Amino acid sequence: MGAFEIAVLGGDGIGPEVTAEAVRALEAIGQRFGQRFTLHEALVGQAAIDAEGVAISEQTMALCQRVDAVLFGAVGGTGVGNPNSPTEPMYSLFRLRKDLELFANVRPVRPLPALLGSSTLKRATLRGVDLLVLRELTGGIYYGKPSEIREGPNGASAVDTLIYTEAEIERIARYAFELARDRRTRLTAVDTAHVPRSSRLWRRGGDRGSADYPDVTLRHMLVDACSMALIRNPREFDVVVTENMFGDILTDEASMLTGSLGMLPSASLGARRTAHGQFGLFEPIHGSAPDIAGQGKANPLAAILTVALLLRYSLGLKRAAAAVERAVRQVVAAGYRTADIAAAGEQAVSTREMGAAVVARILGD
Ligand code: IPM
Ligand code: MG
Repeated sequence: MGAFEIAVLGGDGIGPEVTAEAVRALEAIGQRFGQRFTLHEALVGQAAIDAEGVAISEQTMALCQRVDAVLFGAVGGTGVGNPNSPTEPMYSLFRLRKDLELFANVRPVRPLPALLGSSTLKRATLRGVDLLVLRELTGGIYYGKPSEIREGPNGASAVDTLIYTEAEIERIARYAFELARDRRTRLTAVDTAHVPRSSRLWRRGGDRGSADYPDVTLRHMLVDACSMALIRNPREFDVVVTENMFGDILTDEASMLTGSLGMLPSASLGARRTAHGQFGLFEPIHGSAPDIAGQGKANPLAAILTVALLLRYSLGLKRAAAAVERAVRQVVAAGYRTADIAAAGEQAVSTREMGAAVVARILGD
């Protein structure tokens, strides 16, 4: 078997800093488990616009099409531009998700015992929480057309289009049932069926899938109730499946259960199989955080935890994945804290120091 091929796209802001630590963790895993990872670095986002004129070049797209997995940092600048324009940083991410058909975005939420005190929520609420949000990633309002601002004589108006096909809904529902079957067999399908018609179709798709998975208990939940229940009693959730924008919003909320947005990894998976597993793009859910970029303040743990997902889903290296997660658990248990998870008065370590602590545990394990 040849080496595993991985594209590394650090991107903008804190993206390159946290990705560098993720790469160090990956290399430590290679050393510890005798695996060879061939890394192909490429530019994306504003960094690519500055150097190559577009947010993602055709060569970089082609690279991502042929590797086993993509390790992604973050893209974006300070402005909010038109994401449909190839000269806007976000375009790269939306294009990768769509062109690589990465429809299933897996976002596991498991607060670490040592970090229960880092959350604003009570420990008793957080203990034992282990949920997974499955966000549909290639449909909905992110991609619907028309989507534009129209300047008119009586002022501007804006239109967005939320569109889902039955096939898209059934595909993600099936994926959710499969995930639930491998976990605690409880699936919550989130919509807001009172209002958009797409939510009605969503509900129907869930019910259809349910017939083939009698061992999984399906319940429907409205998104407003879900956002409340997520912080009221998060233990009631196992797998949550929802559409693109709701998934984006609910996972930032859910990240607070872990103490910080800087703790949540994600895997964006599609239909393509590789020699070793399922092709995917792996990114922390946080963004490029330009306000703290280049200062060594960013928490690299979300990026490092994405390496665990990459090893598990795309490379089929389950023991290596568990070793990364164990190392992260150990460093936080040993008291390492970046600023975002440090309690008042606690000394914060830098991005580099946190990464080095994880590497030491992977190698010393
Ligand atoms: C995420 C992010 C992205 C999204 C942004 C950066 C476009 O918030 O992956 O959660 O909305 O999908
Ligand atoms: Mg988000």
